[in-house]
Amino acid sequence: MGTAAAAEPTRRLLLILPVFLFLCSPPHAASVMPSYIVYLGGHSGHARGVSTEEASMMATESHYDLLGSVLGDREKARDAIFYSYTKNINGFAATLEPHVAAAIAKQPGVVSVFPNGGRRMHTTRSWEFMGIEMGGQIPPWSAWETARYGEDTIIANLDSGVWPESLSFNDGEMGPIPDDWKGICQNEHDPKFKCNSKLIGARYFNKGYAAAAGVPPVAPSLNTPRDDVGHGSHTLSTAGGSAVNGANAFGYGNGTARGGSPRARVAAYRVCFEPAVDDTECFDADILAAFEAAIADGVHVITASVGGDPQDFRDDAVALGSLHAVKAGITVACSASNSGPDPGTVTNLAPWVITVAASTTDRDFPAYVVFNRTRVPGQSLSQAWLRGKAFYPLVASTDVVANGSTADDAQVCALGSLDAAKVKGKIVVCIRGANRRVEKGETVRRAGGAGMVLVNDEVGGTTVIADPHVLPALHITYADGLQLLAYIKSTSAPSGFISKARTKTGTKPAPVMAAFSSQGPNVLQPEILKPDVTAPGVDIIAAWSGMAAPSDRPWDQRRVAFSIQSGTSMSCPHIAGIAGLVKTLHPDWSPSAIKSAIMTTATATDMDRRPILNPFRAPSTPFGYGAGHVFPQRALDPGLVYDASTEDYLDFLCALGFNATSVATFNHEKPYQCPAVAVSLQDLNYPSIAVPDLAAPTTVRRRVKNVGPAQRGVYTAAVVREPEGVRVTVDPPTLEFVAVGEEKEFRVSFAVKVPAVPVPEGAGGYAFGAVVWSDGAGNHLVRSPLVVKRHV
Ligand SMILES: *[C@@H]1O[C@H](CO)[C@@H](O)[C@H](O)[C@H]1NC(C)=O
Ligand SMILES: *[C@@H]1O[C@H](CO)[C@@H](O)[C@H](O)[C@H]1NC(C)=O
Ligand SMILES: *[C@@H]1O[C@H](CO)[C@@H](O)[C@H](O)[C@H]1NC(C)=O
Ligand SMILES: *[C@@H]1O[C@H](CO)[C@@H](O)[C@H](O)[C@H]1NC(C)=O
Repeated sequence: MGTAAAAEPTRRLLLILPVFLFLCSPPHAASVMPSYIVYLGGHSGHARGVSTEEASMMATESHYDLLGSVLGDREKARDAIFYSYTKNINGFAATLEPHVAAAIAKQPGVVSVFPNGGRRMHTTRSWEFMGIEMGGQIPPWSAWETARYGEDTIIANLDSGVWPESLSFNDGEMGPIPDDWKGICQNEHDPKFKCNSKLIGARYFNKGYAAAAGVPPVAPSLNTPRDDVGHGSHTLSTAGGSAVNGANAFGYGNGTARGGSPRARVAAYRVCFEPAVDDTECFDADILAAFEAAIADGVHVITASVGGDPQDFRDDAVALGSLHAVKAGITVACSASNSGPDPGTVTNLAPWVITVAASTTDRDFPAYVVFNRTRVPGQSLSQAWLRGKAFYPLVASTDVVANGSTADDAQVCALGSLDAAKVKGKIVVCIRGANRRVEKGETVRRAGGAGMVLVNDEVGGTTVIADPHVLPALHITYADGLQLLAYIKSTSAPSGFISKARTKTGTKPAPVMAAFSSQGPNVLQPEILKPDVTAPGVDIIAAWSGMAAPSDRPWDQRRVAFSIQSGTSMSCPHIAGIAGLVKTLHPDWSPSAIKSAIMTTATATDMDRRPILNPFRAPSTPFGYGAGHVFPQRALDPGLVYDASTEDYLDFLCALGFNATSVATFNHEKPYQCPAVAVSLQDLNYPSIAVPDLAAPTTVRRRVKNVGPAQRGVYTAAVVREPEGVRVTVDPPTLEFVAVGEEKEFRVSFAVKVPAVPVPEGAGGYAFGAVVWSDGAGNHLVRSPLVVKRHV
């Protein structure tokens, strides 16, 4: 199939994942009845004398009543509803005619009705890079030692399931399953799928997928939590996988693979299945059902590397599900998405989740192509290499087009586009394009080529990716590619050689923001800075599915225990694993306190204490990395936290202009009244501060809580960097604490300096700074990024 697809937006070429994250429009194949989620808020606790089962049954009956009243037929309502959310989330998912959905939306008590949309999935050196491990050893002051390897925490993922046989889910180190665990191992159709005292639960949620695809959920591959694509095993093992020695990807990066909370229990909630419609894989109705189950099962941390376009929180299953999770004390980490580096591409914008960007570590996999006495560096994870030292003939793919193929297809080495007679025994130069990078190598291999040099196109810029190619191959930059192609044109018998890749550590600078990592500003509420934090998400080695190829191509018959992947899908579970450590050490901290601890201790500088760079080697900004790069050791002991309660989040929703009645339904336990005077959106007690329109002098309120360990402490504020052209003052400048748990308020005021300096270009008029509370002893530095847009 020709896949050159010149119309493909080139930005996608920077994406790393074999599985991309883009949310596509809600699916409906023409003949499929659309499905919707009817969200009714939370549940009103349990009436006296009513058991949990009875309460759940009553809720389901009320859903039949509600839909029955609109359809005029209770039996039809029963048939249409495929999920009844009755435990902590109140609502249902049903196949409905659009006019019926519209009619339900008008019923009293209905917060929102939204289509069962589809989402995409977002893919161990990283722990060493963050200083938890040193030279493969775990020092006594490691965050793992301090926080007992996360042993009391239960981490769940919402993803493509799990490969339970992976050594990463070996329960050798684990004691008995905690008594209060309520989850199950849903293996009735897959008896070989076994949970253990590491992987303590696994469930699957396929009804939203089936409704969208218009098929009954009967296929065996749908009725199991078993991961058949690899993504879910990778994310879950990154968050909480056991230690596995001698783990490597295609022989590279050999060492110990481990999750961030290596002794945490883990549970998999499978919500992603093979693409149903429009390449969407994870459906909202299933995501909401999985959140509901994970909350009821008793997990502590949820990692969800799925995402879609930013949308109103009332119509966003991840935002709604995570709000209920956070209310239940569960920390939720979500991927920022892989649509960077353009501004305004970040998703998963709810202020109650931790939104995670992706950056590099100090490890890479250099290989070289040698030609005309020149040695050009690239990246590769090829398993096979050229023999001997003799040079091979070099050829540009556009000079060896197969009969019946097009120059466009040959340029990107689409399958079948190359003439075997002209390729045999040669090194072929292919250009980046819409088809998968590993597939280009397969094209050359099938045509009998000896090797491949993959060259970035102009927009691909500087990012080159180490891929597990099926032949000797490497990926080089656009500039280097021009030189190589010029040489090939300049001589009648061009020749060259590809040297074997190796695993190299100590690469600098590091971290660097990944080109694919989505960027702020937050397009829904610019008063909330997103992403929140960055973590390693490039070339991450973790567990894989025994059913999946390391590239997701059907022709790829290779099977691996560990695979190397890149994406915000991979950085998100790093944060979940670190949240697990914080939770083990501080079991009573709220999700916002844990999030604050991770954010205020993050660092905006790299290993050499220089500003973290973007992929174009210019300084990145909080729109790239949020508060900065996670620093696990410090996150365990932040000194102060910006805590936020459920009420703070409800006030935020009130301030967004949500109908007060609908906000009340979020919190059925305790009827909720929006404040008479709406709080300002920028006053949500968030660990970062964003002022999206500094038209007049503006004051933002915050409060910090002393979380010890010392009862007493005097903290002093310092504006370590003022946003360009903006004067920032903190009042009061000093906060004195006398008890752990004590909270103190302060204000940060912003005013344009006079005379005004020009509004900076490039960052859309935004300027960046930081304020730090320090306790003098240098023990605690509580840092918040400042993001200000001057009124133009
Ligand atoms: C809020 O919505 C409910 C139903 O959705 C409606 O009955 C009520 O009048 C609305 N309240 C306000 C203040 O708009
Ligand atoms: C990985 O390291 C282990 C332990 O040092 C060693 O036994 C094994 O052979 C190595 N594997 C590879 C592929 O290098
Ligand atoms: C391709 O076309 C050329 C010219 O038409 C012909 O000579 C050659 O045999 C064809 N090759 C194959 C493999 O069909
Ligand atoms: C090949 O190398 C020679 C000698 O270094 C140089 O003069 C020439 O420009 C090179 N050819 C190309 C096409 O770069």
